[in-house]
Amino acid sequence: EASQGHISVILLGATGDLAKKYLWQGLFQLYMDQVSSGHSFTFHGAALAAVEPGQRRMFDVLKRLSCPPDEAPDRCAVLKDQFLKLSQYHQLKSAENYTALSREIESLLAQEGLHEAGRIFYFSVPPFAYTEIARHINSSCRPPADAWLRVVLEKPFGHDLPSAQQLATELASFFREHEMYRVDHYLGKQAVAHILPFRDQNRHFLDPIWNRHHVERVEVVLKETVDAKGRTSFYEQYGVIRDVLQNHLTEALLFLLMELPANVSSAQDVLQHKLQALQSLWELERSSAVLGQYQAYHSHVQEELQEAQGRVSTTPTFAGVLIRSDSLRWEGVPFLLTSGKALDERVGYARVLFRNRAHCPQSGTLRDGGHSPCKPRQIIFYFGHGALGSPAVLVSRNLFRPVMPKDSWKEAEARSDLHIFGQPLSDFYVYSPVRERDAYSVLISNIYHGRKDSFITTESLLASWAFWTPLLDSTAGQQPRLYPGGVENQQLLDFEMVSGAAVAFSTAEPAQLLEPDP
Ligand code: BG6
Repeated sequence: EASQGHISVILLGATGDLAKKYLWQGLFQLYMDQVSSGHSFTFHGAALAAVEPGQRRMFDVLKRLSCPPDEAPDRCAVLKDQFLKLSQYHQLKSAENYTALSREIESLLAQEGLHEAGRIFYFSVPPFAYTEIARHINSSCRPPADAWLRVVLEKPFGHDLPSAQQLATELASFFREHEMYRVDHYLGKQAVAHILPFRDQNRHFLDPIWNRHHVERVEVVLKETVDAKGRTSFYEQYGVIRDVLQNHLTEALLFLLMELPANVSSAQDVLQHKLQALQSLWELERSSAVLGQYQAYHSHVQEELQEAQGRVSTTPTFAGVLIRSDSLRWEGVPFLLTSGKALDERVGYARVLFRNRAHCPQSGTLRDGGHSPCKPRQIIFYFGHGALGSPAVLVSRNLFRPVMPKDSWKEAEARSDLHIFGQPLSDFYVYSPVRERDAYSVLISNIYHGRKDSFITTESLLASWAFWTPLLDSTAGQQPRLYPGGVENQQLLDFEMVSGAAVAFSTAEPAQLLEPDP
């Protein structure tokens, strides 16, 4: 077939943790998916280490790449061989190294008579290295003018509004906005990525009820059982709000809150509506949040940072935050974001709970197969892990039977022996992905296709930091409430009066909204 041109992927930090765990596998998946697209590829792993040992370390990772279950083993083995042949290691340390890499790509293309389509630079390196790498790429590694450049950046993108602004300004001196792909891996999670398509395909059902008259509350939750051990030098600087709420949970929330664009496949419209939703949120006050710290955190910090006894860490490892929007649609509806380490289970979800308007007997036990108007009505985008083990979309049977794209989501067996939020699974229409895909594979495919709406723009990054920074400032240095941590943890963290509603956050039942006092 006609050549679509050549794509060079340069992975900076080729032997780091993220690359080992996800990025190489994602690139291999890209290759398997696109080998017949008409594009040709080369993969360039780069790091600071000299060719030996860097090369050996990198190929140790590549040799262990696995074949996905839905791929024919013979084809996969052949493609893996080819992928390894198309991959090389480069030491990228000095300006000359970058120039040499660019020359190498050019001469390879000249030899093969290939036209250059584009270059992807994936920054899997700590952010302090960003500016220098960006400078080198801009000055000596840009592709020719008729080819595209895509640079992929990993968080953290600053730790508050001023630092994010500074980093954004630096990057803007080397790259144009359309060249930058800031990753939030939650945007690649299948259940998160399906929120907008779901809303679009079910407009007919949702239009009348997706508002303050029908929605009681919205929860976005990530509970983790792991603690911060081994990562405290990072964690001490960031804490749970910067690590998870400012990015992952906010992104999922925005997909639920934003006005639905007429055309959800227009990246520009999606990004714009999302930004508007972010700008509609009320400013957070100190009283909007309940913060906690698992008890052993302090000793982890002491051990790992070898700190003098005496300093008490005030970094939160748990946060429950009540958010509100001033849009007419959502006026008065509480949005609860919760995340924590060392909790009783690992689970993540975004959940919309609808009001119950039926007159129900106090303790009715109707046998109705989940259709009773007296049962809770909810839609759950389940990120994975937890009781279900995999991503899922769940809709209460007493709400509606949703429209789901058959090629990507299949109806799962409604088992009554499994429970979610105290209800048997058989009370829901349950869908799971036809093909489970890791978030990074999804994002790498979106980078290849240039789908900008799966990434964070400079404008929305800064808007997000503008939203979170006042809370970070007002809680800085305050001692969070201690909780025991661990799988036995059922502790209720606290009560606070927030905007007229009493909110109790328990680390086991993270977002429990109690009725406001009369
Ligand atoms: C990362 C955070 O961005 O996301 C981690 O730095 C957190 O602290 C992780 O554990 C959660 O992602 P996932 O995909 O495991 O839910």
